[in-house]
Amino acid sequence: MLAPREHWGSRVGFILAAAGSAVGLGNIWKFPYLAGQHGGAAFLITYLALAFTIGISVMLCEFIIGRAARKDPIGAFAKLKGGLWPIVGFMGIAAAFVILSFYSVVGGWTLAYILKMMTGVLVNGTSQELGKVFSNFIENPVRPIIFHAAFMTLTIAVVIGGIGRGIERWCKILLPALFVIILILLGRSLTLPGAMKGIEYFLQPDFSKMNAAAFNAALSQAFFSLSIGMGAMITYGSYLDRTMNLPTSTIWTTSLDTSIAFLAGLVILPAVFAFGFDPNAGPGLTFITLPAVFANMPGGVVFAPLFFVLLAIAALTSAVSLLEVVVTYLVDEKGVSRRTAAWGSGAVMFLIGIPASLSLGVWKDYTIFGKGIFDFLDYLSSNLLLPLGGIFIALFVGWFFSEKALEEATAGGKHRFPVARIWMFICKFIAPLAIAWILISGL
Ligand code: TRP
Repeated sequence: MLAPREHWGSRVGFILAAAGSAVGLGNIWKFPYLAGQHGGAAFLITYLALAFTIGISVMLCEFIIGRAARKDPIGAFAKLKGGLWPIVGFMGIAAAFVILSFYSVVGGWTLAYILKMMTGVLVNGTSQELGKVFSNFIENPVRPIIFHAAFMTLTIAVVIGGIGRGIERWCKILLPALFVIILILLGRSLTLPGAMKGIEYFLQPDFSKMNAAAFNAALSQAFFSLSIGMGAMITYGSYLDRTMNLPTSTIWTTSLDTSIAFLAGLVILPAVFAFGFDPNAGPGLTFITLPAVFANMPGGVVFAPLFFVLLAIAALTSAVSLLEVVVTYLVDEKGVSRRTAAWGSGAVMFLIGIPASLSLGVWKDYTIFGKGIFDFLDYLSSNLLLPLGGIFIALFVGWFFSEKALEEATAGGKHRFPVARIWMFICKFIAPLAIAWILISGL
């Protein structure tokens, strides 16, 4: 006898778990530096526009597929349609391995930086010294891998707890905590002398900076940040019961995710300008510039560790959703126990993460298609696998599952869904065409 499928305990629990998946390093580490590189407000507006049209639509598709099938992504496509469709699920499982392996490396950095901040190593450094501290750390062949292992172990531990007692319980504590910390930091950042320039940069659009590359970055970022395109939301949806209102849950998740990205930009960019740093600093922005910012501000000794605790929390609730995709698959399709599935797949991801970490130091010279291993895994997933998955998910719901999807969305007519037609139109035409166009122009 199969045990009955676990369910989310409550509507709030589900939304916080989905938002916990969406809110992560993508919002707090990637978004501010991408906005910094691609013109501030122009990037912000493009990202928001894509998230609230294409992104939100694909997320609803994923929830629907998951709940309709109550299965992992591969099993869901097999059950709902069969044919070649399960390949989309396979792509998703592959993407989970690709993303979590490098994601956990960065997750490890956040753990390491909590300790660094608490021991005060960085508190009196200049930005140049802090740059060295960062590159010395990530280039070290051993230390980042130890923290990578620690981060992966935490992720495995939460996933082993299961849906209700593991993921939901943790997200219900961690996500509100994150909101509070970010609001404290916001108060600090906005009151810094000179913060106004950063606020203007972030909120006054300069559309001349929006070229094909920026569009491509905004789309990839929308997918990555919303956790869509690879079945994470299919997986979370598969643990829903039939009564939940899917369209409103989707709006909640997308709004929470984009507002945290917005707030993170509003914390980081004004602070960067207030201290005269370069918003164009790239991936080092968080780990190099911010500690310097903290070092130069009153109360920095408290705010610095607080910030990295926040980043670690956000990363953990996201990492959990990536591992859960693979674990749900192994449990549903292969009959493996949750514990074995989590340790086994986590171990493989940990191993793939090792060359990713080494590629930032001693293995710098090994490249795949001209990129280091770390950058290649990031690019492969965000810029290729996720948008591609998004195209197929939208096409599936728009053309092959539309009647049943509409019924699933409203739980058989129980919930109102006034924009159903617009959503269907986006799934059928806008999302596949726009994603394909942006993908191709970006290559
Ligand atoms: N959305 C998370 C972030 O912004 C990362 C993430 C978690 C993710 N699960 C995912 C990205 C699934 C793509 C697909 O950091």
